[in-house]
Amino acid sequence: MTRPRRPPARRAAPEKPPGIQARFVAARAVDDVLRHRTPLTEALDRAFADPTAEGLDSRDRGLVHAIATVTFRRYGTISAALDARLSRGWPDNAGRLQAILATAAAQVLFLDLPAHAVVDLAVTLVSGDRFGSRYAPLANAVLRRIAGEADVIRAASDPLTTDTPDWLRARWIAAWGETTARAVAAAHQAEPPLDLTVRADPGLWAERLGAARLSTGTLRLTDPGLPTALPGFAEGAWWVQDAAAALPARLVRARPGMRVADLCAAPGGKTAQLAAAGAHVTAVDKSAGRLDRLAANLARLGLSADIKVADAATFDGGPFDAVLLDAPCSATGTLRRHPDVAFLKRETDVASLSALQTRLIDHAAGLVRPGGTLVYCTCSLEPEEGERIVEALLARRPDYTLDPVRADEIGGQTALIDGQGRLRVLPCHDPLTAGGGTQAGGQDGFFAARLIRG
Ligand SMILES: C[S@@+](CC[C@H](N)C(=O)[O-])C[C@H]1O[C@@H](n2cnc3c(N)ncnc32)[C@H](O)[C@@H]1O
Repeated sequence: MTRPRRPPARRAAPEKPPGIQARFVAARAVDDVLRHRTPLTEALDRAFADPTAEGLDSRDRGLVHAIATVTFRRYGTISAALDARLSRGWPDNAGRLQAILATAAAQVLFLDLPAHAVVDLAVTLVSGDRFGSRYAPLANAVLRRIAGEADVIRAASDPLTTDTPDWLRARWIAAWGETTARAVAAAHQAEPPLDLTVRADPGLWAERLGAARLSTGTLRLTDPGLPTALPGFAEGAWWVQDAAAALPARLVRARPGMRVADLCAAPGGKTAQLAAAGAHVTAVDKSAGRLDRLAANLARLGLSADIKVADAATFDGGPFDAVLLDAPCSATGTLRRHPDVAFLKRETDVASLSALQTRLIDHAAGLVRPGGTLVYCTCSLEPEEGERIVEALLARRPDYTLDPVRADEIGGQTALIDGQGRLRVLPCHDPLTAGGGTQAGGQDGFFAARLIRG
């Protein structure tokens, strides 16, 4: 007699170790930067949008962000520590092995997370990787050595020599001297604060947000959590904008009714400042997708501008009372907020970008009416993308003269004005508070100059 077969017992899915999902998502984003050269902000957006990130709460997301950011903030130290412990070098076709090891090393060395848990989670991730799984024992051995030698690795780490790529270090020393280059590199190691530009009433919003008020009106928060959850976001009372990034638009001296072209405008931080001052703004950018973000930002803020998708090197418009050109650049001034820039940019980018900036400023100069104003700026620390561009324009266009920036236009920050009246902000420049003291946290590197057409 045959006994009726019992249905096979359902095996419960194995419990996922706590914290593994955040580590997976962080490694995925870092892998996207390392292997596909995707900017980290975009890589994180993509990783969070993937179904594998479903269910991550805001704390997990904060952890993902912290892991991925510190991986690039300290990438020089981390990659040297890993390379030194891989006696046969990095294996080929190892899937996400490098990203998993780099993010795990970042947690052990710089996030003060318990090493045994971090190593176990990383080894689990490597074991589950389609191409990397055979390297799980290697991952385990390398990470255990890093955990055991963490103090030695940290002691040998130096912001300027280990965590700044050689080409940037050499350029900054040549441009600013070793002491300043060292201060700049040190500023890149700290998590930057959140800076907000308010549409109106900075005093009121400083109080509501519990923010420090800078001498320029920018509000500064440390450890704020998600900006979109802060008071005033939904009603469009403020927008996120680094303290230094808020300075160039002030140099336009926008007034109600003034016709201003904002070239290379998206995502629109400076357009919002000009529109909030009452100017009639034409916002030009060649990226339709980024202009969609600009339009959404302006709509949230209750501001408006004429939006034009166009190449700013050939844009046909004007004449304008003022033109603001925030030219595309190497963005080496933004390493505090985007440490992946140090990994993604190459020295050759500086030369090709300065050629593009030259074309853009030449065209911009033709859009300004006689007697009007041209403000040129970049978020680069490289003089070839700032000082040299403006000097060369002045040599080509005798109808233009430099109009020196006054300290009272930038909240009394005299240290940011060079001998010729141009603005040169370095990440180690702590801004002033409304009360005249200094507010820690630095600001992005920026160059800006104001020119008047005769
Ligand atoms: C530094 S970002 C601008 C930031 C913006 N001004 C703000 O304050 O939010 C540079 C912008 O230049 C745009 N861009 C690059 N090349 C361009 C070109 N040839 N013409 C117009 N826009 C360009 C990019 O799409 C990018 O949005």
